[in-house]
Amino acid sequence: MGIVFYENERIFKLDTPHSTYMFELVDKEGFMLHMYYGRRLSDYRTADLTRTDFGKAVPSNNERERCSFNDCMPFEYATHGLGDYRDDSFKVLNPEGYTATSLEYRSHIIYSGKPAIKGMPATFGKDDECTTLEIIADDPYNGLEVTLIYTVFEDVDAITRSVRVKNTGKYANIKLTKVLSTCVDFEDGDYDTIFLHGSWARERTIDRNRLGYGKHYVSSKRGESSHQEHPFIALLDKNTTEDAGEVWGFNFVYSGNFIAQAEKSQFKTVRVMMGINPEDFCWNLHTGEEFVAPEVVMVYSHEGIGAMSRTFHDLYRKHLIRSKYRNVRRPILINNWEATYFDFTTEKLIAIAKEASELGIEMLVMDDGWFGKRNFDDSSLGDWIVNENKLPGGLKYLVDEVNKLGMKFGIWMEPEMISPDSDLYRAHPDWAIHIPGRRGVQSRAQFVLDMSRPEVVDYTYNQVRSILKSANIEYLKWDMNRQITDLGSSMLDAGSQGELFHRYVLGVYELQERLVTEFPDLLLENCSGGGARFDPGILYYGPQIWTSDDADAVERLKIQQGTALIYPMSTMGAHVSDCPNHQVGRTTPFETRGYVALAGTFGYELDVTRIPKEDREMIPAQIAMYHKFNDIVREGDYYRIASFLENGLWDCWEVVTKDKTEAVLTIVEVLHQPNYKSRRIRLKGLDPEKTYRVATFDIKTADDSTENVLELKGDALMFAGINAPDGFWGDFKSKLIHIKEI
Ligand code: GLA
Repeated sequence: MGIVFYENERIFKLDTPHSTYMFELVDKEGFMLHMYYGRRLSDYRTADLTRTDFGKAVPSNNERERCSFNDCMPFEYATHGLGDYRDDSFKVLNPEGYTATSLEYRSHIIYSGKPAIKGMPATFGKDDECTTLEIIADDPYNGLEVTLIYTVFEDVDAITRSVRVKNTGKYANIKLTKVLSTCVDFEDGDYDTIFLHGSWARERTIDRNRLGYGKHYVSSKRGESSHQEHPFIALLDKNTTEDAGEVWGFNFVYSGNFIAQAEKSQFKTVRVMMGINPEDFCWNLHTGEEFVAPEVVMVYSHEGIGAMSRTFHDLYRKHLIRSKYRNVRRPILINNWEATYFDFTTEKLIAIAKEASELGIEMLVMDDGWFGKRNFDDSSLGDWIVNENKLPGGLKYLVDEVNKLGMKFGIWMEPEMISPDSDLYRAHPDWAIHIPGRRGVQSRAQFVLDMSRPEVVDYTYNQVRSILKSANIEYLKWDMNRQITDLGSSMLDAGSQGELFHRYVLGVYELQERLVTEFPDLLLENCSGGGARFDPGILYYGPQIWTSDDADAVERLKIQQGTALIYPMSTMGAHVSDCPNHQVGRTTPFETRGYVALAGTFGYELDVTRIPKEDREMIPAQIAMYHKFNDIVREGDYYRIASFLENGLWDCWEVVTKDKTEAVLTIVEVLHQPNYKSRRIRLKGLDPEKTYRVATFDIKTADDSTENVLELKGDALMFAGINAPDGFWGDFKSKLIHIKEI
């Protein structure tokens, strides 16, 4: 059992295989004080971990210093306005205008398994895979019952937390203005933080900094998790490296506005919190109603950042992604976006498909521009009717022709959007999120549909559904190309507009839930102007997400390293695209583009009829490479060996099968330096006892090279290392090394 309550000591002990999380109930009022989160402890007995220099002077025998108690104790869930001047997790606006909250433990239950969160994504596990604790607490003054929900996984070092708030009826309605999902107070110490920052085409760049005093946070108020900041924070010891030291990672299973914060207090303690961004959030909770905050995943590792990443990967592959494609090779696709942009016809697409199918590519994806009168990005979103000028004979004809070539067919849609220049907008201008009487702020010449309205959700679903039913469509790229402004819904009354951001996300989740329920065989790839909705929430619906609109092999090194900090490689949409690259103008070898895309789902985004002959001729070998290595990449353990982001010169990562019998190592020498001794690379994650054959993959033969093959024990490969192979003359060169037990 992963969760035990020690009744006499009133201590809760939550254990994963290698971590322990403890808190205690204190004083008559039932304060819930955090005790410990770190390496697994064999026993609950510890020196008093919540004691301060001036003692744990509980309010019942030191009422005059209640404020000091509130301002320094490590609360499991921090309340507002009663003396804890650090930032809080829970705040209301009651009908009398008061905002303060307090919590008293009342009871708890512990049970096997994990409940789903209605209407929202969440990790899941069978009864023998996880244990759940619900702490029921009261805020009697506000007539609220607050349940803190914890789940501990037996097979992964992860704990999830979420919060449920119920109005028990003191007030007919009470406004929740802040309901964060987790709050963990850490011992005083010198910590660093890792955040992921970015922009369009530069998503999820790792940003590690020393944590100073005060509040340090990232957030989104854009209506989605965003390119710019990411629903993730790691707190780590300042000495922690990739392979050693303590790190605590927090990731929010949600696709909307968030905040992820660390606050270092006057006493050097650190409070980490994560949840829905309170800005523009105000939720009405009527008598008897419940509000559930989305869940946060917490991962602890004492073996460095790499072990944290591998835990997130295992958790998401096993306990979050539901798609039937989760553990299988995805069809190698070719997407026409960068090949044609809006300028295509059935004839052109079939020409691409024909060439692609001969090379071994398995699916054609038709991107933006096939509907309404959309020949540029300024019209027709919402009018999901095939443009027969471009596609004579319609979708069915095109899809049948592609199928005849032995290829699958996939399609792009942007269901949440509406162009001002669309029949849908002319018929229903109020379906856009907008403020009546104010000129709406356009972005990419579009507005956002109001997914807080059930009729808009229904209409949108039926549009998507009828397209998917109209032909043999086996893949959907679900895009979302702008962020939300003009917060206003014509359905919500004046007192409820603060619900719109969250209701929007719930509407999107409902759409995708209906989609995956009705079309369980559909391969769903989410996308948002590249990777602005790359979050665990959306992974619950689709197994892969377009990582970034930037497919330049060099830029992708940073983007994919940052993404793989949390997300398994099986989730990262990655394509070989044309050169000079459309985002940065850089020309990299076709071979390198292939190795970099191999670290994700692998596909193509180019006009295969027009690329140089020698590149085209390499495609069958790249496809053979994908089939040879994708099982390892998709299911294996990921190890980071060198980071171009950090060293400015080269990048290197390795993936090892769970049984440690096989591995693949990728080396990209971004900037070649003259006159250097060969690089020494120490492999990771192998079995020291096993003997391995180490061979360079030869793209010309699509097989392991027979030259310079090594046969060495795992310990020699890991502790003494290997020399990087020769052949790095010129920039952007790369090698793939295949390691296999003999
Ligand atoms: C977004 C996506 C691209 C492409 C375009 C189409 O930018 O990220 O991959 O689908 O939209 O408009």
